[in-house]
Amino acid sequence: MKLSLRIWRQPDAAAKGKMVSYEIDEVSEDASFLEMLDVLNERLISEGEDPVAFDHDCREGICGACSLVIDGQPHGPQAATTTCQLHMRKFKDGDAIDIEPWRAGAFPVVKDLVVDRSAFDKIIQAGGYISAPTGTAPDAHAVPIAKQDADAAFSAAECIGCGACVAACPNGSGMLFMGAKVTHLSLMPQGQPERATRVLGMVAAHDEAGFGGCTNTGECAAACPKEIGLDVIGKLNRDFRKAAVRAA
Ligand code: SF4
Ligand code: FES
Repeated sequence: MKLSLRIWRQPDAAAKGKMVSYEIDEVSEDASFLEMLDVLNERLISEGEDPVAFDHDCREGICGACSLVIDGQPHGPQAATTTCQLHMRKFKDGDAIDIEPWRAGAFPVVKDLVVDRSAFDKIIQAGGYISAPTGTAPDAHAVPIAKQDADAAFSAAECIGCGACVAACPNGSGMLFMGAKVTHLSLMPQGQPERATRVLGMVAAHDEAGFGGCTNTGECAAACPKEIGLDVIGKLNRDFRKAAVRAA
């Protein structure tokens, strides 16, 4: 395949960025999107140019590090797929592809396509720890959990913290991410002792980091590679209201 790429280049956080055009050919349709960028970078390095900076780690859809807006869509045109799991067979020979970083006030650009997502870490830190007895592992079934609660908690825990929900949201809100994190613990017995302090702390950290509020546009859930549903935002709001009333 032959492709025309337009890639956001920005040397550092303070610099003004711009889209730069690159032509690339002999791209295998079996290559992943990131492997296609690897090929481009090898060429740039061999020509003495600065390679395109982009985040990646596992390349298996697990870690949440990869983060590209491809043709205006976080993680690209394939639903429920991370950038690293997107393959070039999704594109056609001769396509023009725009590649940009996450665009959100709480995720400033570090370089090119790399953004600083430490605001998510601050939300997790503000949630604190759960109280759990230490020592030997408890017997299986020592703490009974209803199957539907276990399944729902597990689904929420699938969030990989990639930030596509924030990049897709017109308000730059982190509510889907935070809803997933609050929900997966609030459904489990182990998450109950700190349930109120956790949600209050996380919401405060979310707002302090500059994420916007939720206006139910649903773009976040549409962009989520792990198909986290909007119901977690409802659960987050209910937990927050209860905790805020109790704390008043
Ligand atoms: S909710 Fe989905 S889009 Fe948002 S951080 Fe988690 S996995 Fe990524
Ligand atoms: S590189 Fe780990 S999820 Fe994409």
